[in-house]
Amino acid sequence: MYDSIRGTKDILPEESKKWEFLERTIREVARLYNVREIRIPTFERTELFYKSTGEDTDIVQKEMYTFTDKGGRSLTLKPEGTPGVVRAFLQYSLHKKRPFHKLFYIERMFRQERPQKGRYREFYQFGVEIIGSASPLVDVELISMVMNILERLGIKGTYVRVNSLGCDKCRADYRKALKEYLKGKLPLLCENCRRRYETNPLRILDCKVDAEKLTDAPRMIDFLCDECKEHHRIVIDTLRYLNIPFKEDPTLVRGLDYYTRTVFEFIHPSLGAQDSIGGGGRYDTLIKSMGGPDIPAAGFAMGMERMLLAMGDREIEEERPVLFFVALGDDAKRLSFNLLEGMRKAGVKADMDYIGRSMKAQMREANRLGAMFTYIIGEDEIKKGIGILKNMGTGEQMNVPMDVEEIKRRIS
Ligand code: HAM
Repeated sequence: MYDSIRGTKDILPEESKKWEFLERTIREVARLYNVREIRIPTFERTELFYKSTGEDTDIVQKEMYTFTDKGGRSLTLKPEGTPGVVRAFLQYSLHKKRPFHKLFYIERMFRQERPQKGRYREFYQFGVEIIGSASPLVDVELISMVMNILERLGIKGTYVRVNSLGCDKCRADYRKALKEYLKGKLPLLCENCRRRYETNPLRILDCKVDAEKLTDAPRMIDFLCDECKEHHRIVIDTLRYLNIPFKEDPTLVRGLDYYTRTVFEFIHPSLGAQDSIGGGGRYDTLIKSMGGPDIPAAGFAMGMERMLLAMGDREIEEERPVLFFVALGDDAKRLSFNLLEGMRKAGVKADMDYIGRSMKAQMREANRLGAMFTYIIGEDEIKKGIGILKNMGTGEQMNVPMDVEEIKRRIS
């Protein structure tokens, strides 16, 4: 007997109804927002994540599943979707086909974190990447899309934390001010952060160990240039106009390196320590830094297990079979099987017994499945070529010839 690996999960049929509902809702809303699906591979060159997610991030430094394949290449199971999507975007030169793309994915991600409720080593993300526009309305569209999905799922109480991380221009001044502030604190910081002080001081603000010692650090929001300020103002005004519950939070830095300007995180209070149900932001310089043209973009990813946790024990109705064949003996079984296949071809959800139950037990099974009708074939019925159709709701029975069209007519 083997167990599954810590931090991985099986999704058994009882739970997969909820997953199916979640994915269906996501796809419906993606359609409304005119977002098209992209599927990307499970593993990529390790270097891709160093270049995009960022080599000073916790994800790259501590959490990646990296291995060397037989060809001696270093590969990594994707810890997030944005790098793969951008890689595919550039590999297939999608920008040459159209200037503007809205893409979504539902994909497995892998991070070697300490597993706990809402945090797994293999998990699913639903993500959207909008590539080709610098408009602040795109930032708001991403947020509104998520709120729309959460509403349809019956998830209440989520709000959005929003901040701006500025652009390359204004961040240089901020970096200087931050380094000045951090200088005196260096001996108090962890080894990782002391190293980050030189390479990427902004990352220190996202350190799980040190962030609390730095609550009075200078804030990026106070250093924004005029263009970034205006971008942020439009985002905030539009969120307000759409009545989306949000909080401006100057301490929000996010755990990935590629963000510029708007960053946001969806908080669901019932999730406890793992209260971030999703997050994202703008990444206007990532595509260029990966060797592509200068194209702005923005996106988000939602943790799908966390969305399900936030849905609580909401029951999802399973589609019931319309018809269950009840038959005794080999001949009756064969006849049932032929009719059963015919019903399915005619688009009717139907089933029969395959484990040799008695007539009574077959009726009980039909009841348990919630079948609306049973079609009963015993010895007498075979002789007459006519079965008994029983309405399981009313108990009413009628004789119906063994003919798919005839049965279909009576049950519709
Ligand atoms: P992220 O904040 O690293 O962003 O992850 C997004 C969401 O994935 C989190 O808010 C959380 O709900 C879920 N998540 C992360 N780690 C785990 C885990 N170990 N177990 C379960 N759920 C988890 C990104 O991944 C960016 N790629 C988002 C983005 C797209 N930004 C721009 N475009």
